[in-house]
Amino acid sequence: MHMQSVRTDVAALVDDDPRKHAFRVHRDAYVDQGVFELEIDRFFHHGWVYAAHESQLPAAASFVSTTLGRQPVLITRGSDGQLRGFFNRCRHRGAVVCKERQGQSDNFRCPYHGWSFKGDGSLAGLPGPDGYGADFPRAEMGLVPVAELASYRGFIFVSLARPDVDLQTHLGQARVFLDRLCDQRPQGLSVVPGTTRYGFDANWKLQIENALDFYHLPVVHRSFFEIKRARGESGKMTVRDFATDQCVALERGHGTVLASDANGHVHQHLFIFPNLVILENPAPQLRVIFPQRVDRTEIEGLAFFSADAGEAERSRLLGLYERFYGPMGFGTPDDIEIFRACMNGFMAEAAPWNDFSRGYHRELDHLPNGDAAAVMACGNITDETFVRGLYRWWMNALRDVRA
Ligand code: FES
Ligand SMILES: [Fe+2]
Repeated sequence: MHMQSVRTDVAALVDDDPRKHAFRVHRDAYVDQGVFELEIDRFFHHGWVYAAHESQLPAAASFVSTTLGRQPVLITRGSDGQLRGFFNRCRHRGAVVCKERQGQSDNFRCPYHGWSFKGDGSLAGLPGPDGYGADFPRAEMGLVPVAELASYRGFIFVSLARPDVDLQTHLGQARVFLDRLCDQRPQGLSVVPGTTRYGFDANWKLQIENALDFYHLPVVHRSFFEIKRARGESGKMTVRDFATDQCVALERGHGTVLASDANGHVHQHLFIFPNLVILENPAPQLRVIFPQRVDRTEIEGLAFFSADAGEAERSRLLGLYERFYGPMGFGTPDDIEIFRACMNGFMAEAAPWNDFSRGYHRELDHLPNGDAAAVMACGNITDETFVRGLYRWWMNALRDVRA
């Protein structure tokens, strides 16, 4: 950890005044290198992080590789069908043993000197074994397992180091909303192979704030709404249209927004701290956040369907997906432009505070429709209720690290 490089006390970066319904976050949360190091260490290297979906490892002898924080990880379904997680790092001299993102294999051959490992992590073989004496601990030279891997309804989470709580506790209230997503697709979710990967020069938390932000839609995505209107498509377009929809803060930095369409169907967007966004509208998408540097973030977007969706439904959803999320889509480039505008604005040192007080005065501690789901706070969908919950959790978790 780089404690000495933390310029600012994280507790001083969040200014929460419930009496005045005022909530502010300081620019150093987005631009300070020391804060970024703390975040990676606490949230990505010492906590539960979303890693993959089980539908990406459908059969025995399949794998997904990923990066959690800075650490390379290999998730395998061994020939015995069991899911396991390892550090994707050769026990010989350190090379990443699996460079492919996803595939079918029960054998991972290191590209450097050719040691090979099985899906259960064990060392299967190495070239020139007579170069090692009888005391070489070959049985102990398998891939090093991650501290914990657990799956909740098909979503695979990893904790690289021993976590402070189990996965169920980490997900907490978010389980209700994850259950809702899965219950609506009783055949399970199927993640489409192939990802949209892109990056932008801005802090990773701007993507979190933005993913559940309905306040910006009519402004940033105005052209999208205008084209929809020109085509005679229905849909909400102004802040007033969203008057009866909710923005919800959940435990441990998670959150959700619930928006009903003209048919009364509720679309849910869910954020699982620290790196998974699950969007349902305009098309289903898993969006995984990969912080690279304090001012650089990469995003991986994956389309998903109900596993029993037919060809016609799949191509309809993929069309919508491309139109909004694709590299040339209406959504992504506009958001990225705004992230850059924010990072530029944050350079104004004499004006260091972001205001997140929208809707603080009208917050509830329950869902207004009588739904029994437990929530931390609930506001209108254009309110900043979720972001306040996010930064309360963020500050408390980072403060504990420093204590
Ligand atoms: S580093 Fe992997 S075989 Fe040498
Ligand atoms: Fe957006």
